[in-house]
Amino acid sequence: MDSAVNRAHALDEALNRHYAPEDVSARILHSLRAAGLDPEHLTRDDAALFDEFHGGGRESTRAVARAIALAPGTRVLDIGCGIGGPARTLTAECGAVVTGVDLTHEFITAAVMLSERVGMGGQIEFLQGSALDLPVPDASFDLVWSQNMLMNLPDKPQFAREVARVLKPGGRCAIEAVVAGEGGDILYPCFWASEAALSFVPTAVELRAAFAQADMTETHWQDNTSKVLAHAQRRLAGLERSDGPALGIGVLVPDRVTEKTRNGLRNNEEGRTAAIQAVWQKAPAEIGGV
Ligand SMILES: C[S@@+](CC[C@H](N)C(=O)[O-])C[C@H]1O[C@@H](n2cnc3c(N)ncnc32)[C@H](O)[C@@H]1O
Repeated sequence: MDSAVNRAHALDEALNRHYAPEDVSARILHSLRAAGLDPEHLTRDDAALFDEFHGGGRESTRAVARAIALAPGTRVLDIGCGIGGPARTLTAECGAVVTGVDLTHEFITAAVMLSERVGMGGQIEFLQGSALDLPVPDASFDLVWSQNMLMNLPDKPQFAREVARVLKPGGRCAIEAVVAGEGGDILYPCFWASEAALSFVPTAVELRAAFAQADMTETHWQDNTSKVLAHAQRRLAGLERSDGPALGIGVLVPDRVTEKTRNGLRNNEEGRTAAIQAVWQKAPAEIGGV
């Protein structure tokens, strides 16, 4: 292997260790039992307390789906789908037909396990793979969806090219992400990276340029930092209470969850980062074109 391939492989392995330092499915089942729930009779709402691993939780997923008027039957590719919470929300609440792809093997196993346990087995396809080399055919999706994933990608232009490749003509890409601000260096550990070596947070200018280079047209850009801050403040209050909720993001993040939450808050409060929501569109097919 040449050194670039070696580096990419080492990063993938390091991200797998960051996101899944232990058996994720076993930890989820253990946490559910400890919270007094029966893993044999789970609902999607039980899992929602920890299965949406991004700034605003399930409400934010619903808000993006509303903003883009997500229609039933839409073929969606969720890139960096985690343990499948957003994919289940889009399937159950919007009637979307979703495929989820994630780099972390343990997350894909947990996504399948949880979908089965909440009665959605077989409704969503989950694939292990990288956003930089997607394991899906060209022009096969109406919508690419991705929440808080691209901060782990060293090559944003390659990501945008992959998005353009897998979208049908006229298809859209809806993203939530963290972008770099001017308030100073990002504090680690945070949710997407325990250390700077795992973190590739783009500036807004870099992200927009990557999509422009892939011939994708920006149709929406919104700063969501204040909403994400309010969500993080509620999350931190729960973590700091000794009688805090038994189920929360700590189910997915066994290591330094309170410190990561505090750093995420400070990163946004101090302008080191900002949370954005954006939509790009691939050009429609030319009428009469071949
Ligand atoms: C903060 S989590 C967000 C998970 C999910 N989008 C959600 O909102 O619940 C970031 C996810 O990106 C995934 N990820 C990181 N790098 C990736 C890559 N190169 N390709 C695909 N997934 C990746 C991680 O495995 C992790 O599941």
